Amino acid sequence: MESLDRSARIYIAGHNGLVGSAIWRHFTAEGFTDLIGASSSELDLRDRGRVFSYIRDTNPDVVIDAAARVGGIHANDTFPADFLTDNLQIQTNLMDAANAIDVDRLLFLGSSCIYPKYAPQPIKESSLLTGVLEPTNEAYAIAKIAGIMQVQAYRKQYGRRWISAMPTNLYGPGDNFHPQNSHVLPALMRRIHEAKLQGASEVVIWGSGTPRREFLYVDDLARACLFLLEHYDDGQTINVGVGDDLSIHDLAVLLAETVGFEGELVQDTSQPDGTPRKLLDVSRLTALGWQAAVGFPDGIARTYDWYLHNIDHLRTK
Ligand SMILES: NC(=O)c1ccc[n+]([C@@H]2O[C@H](COP(=O)([O-])OP(=O)(O)OC[C@H]3O[C@@H](n4cnc5c(N)ncnc54)[C@H](OP(=O)(O)O)[C@@H]3O)[C@@H](O)[C@H]2O)c1
Repeated sequence: MESLDRSARIYIAGHNGLVGSAIWRHFTAEGFTDLIGASSSELDLRDRGRVFSYIRDTNPDVVIDAAARVGGIHANDTFPADFLTDNLQIQTNLMDAANAIDVDRLLFLGSSCIYPKYAPQPIKESSLLTGVLEPTNEAYAIAKIAGIMQVQAYRKQYGRRWISAMPTNLYGPGDNFHPQNSHVLPALMRRIHEAKLQGASEVVIWGSGTPRREFLYVDDLARACLFLLEHYDDGQTINVGVGDDLSIHDLAVLLAETVGFEGELVQDTSQPDGTPRKLLDVSRLTALGWQAAVGFPDGIARTYDWYLHNIDHLRTK
């Protein structure tokens, strides 16, 4: 496959988000000169007519879909209708509009929650649609599975060279640190940071601390996105991760060390644990020649640094 023309017009949908902003940074650093994006207040991607106008007027060569209604377990479980409908609308409008102007390259981003709750670990791409989903984020997962199918359908019916990729849990600069709506790593970082400021003697961590999770630094995902656009052209979705995991307890210890919290980390075992392990099999991606570059504790240190510098204007939802 050929490398992407650095003067190609690349539309990064969701360019203000955790993933989209990392993609924007990386593509800029890689010499791309014509990146475009619009915030949700400028362009609500649920509005089909406006999406068609935007795509027609801007005429991008490549579309990267990093826009989605995203949230943690609580938000997913409380607003399933929004997670299903918004995400279906966003991705359908983007893909239909991109198809209408013959966009040749499109990357759709999903997430590892598309895989069955009891998929064998590490999870291979072939586990898709082989079992029941985790009920708390089923609506979100179904929308993302539909996105993978949409990419495959456009490839088959229109010969589009579109691809989809499924990243593991992400973290990094630009993350959501909202007390209720954030994912486990930023949520724990914030709680441990606040405990340190308050001089608290302990931080309570939900569950036994034994479940294991994988975390990819978001700038690594951005690198993978460019790599895939330049090296991957297949309808089967592809996992993006580090291929290694750690326990929630070990994550909390690392966070406490980074934050400088010297109190105790207490497990509240009356709270549920969730899936014991969730690790992606990334052998297809590594066979293509890509691997993650930023590991722990470096990624956590960079994220904490970003958090401290942006603490006065963190996201409010
Ligand atoms: N975070 C993770 O751990 C993770 C893991 C795996 C996969 N992913 C995938 O990566 C993608 C991006 O996630 P993220 O973590 O970057 O989420 P995020 O930080 O919440 O960013 C989502 C972006 O989508 C935009 N957006 C949402 N609704 C919109 C609408 N109606 N119209 C226009 N724009 C809209 C937002 O725009 P504004 O900021 O302008 O409102 C925001 O910039 C998602 O597909 C997600 O599944 C994320």
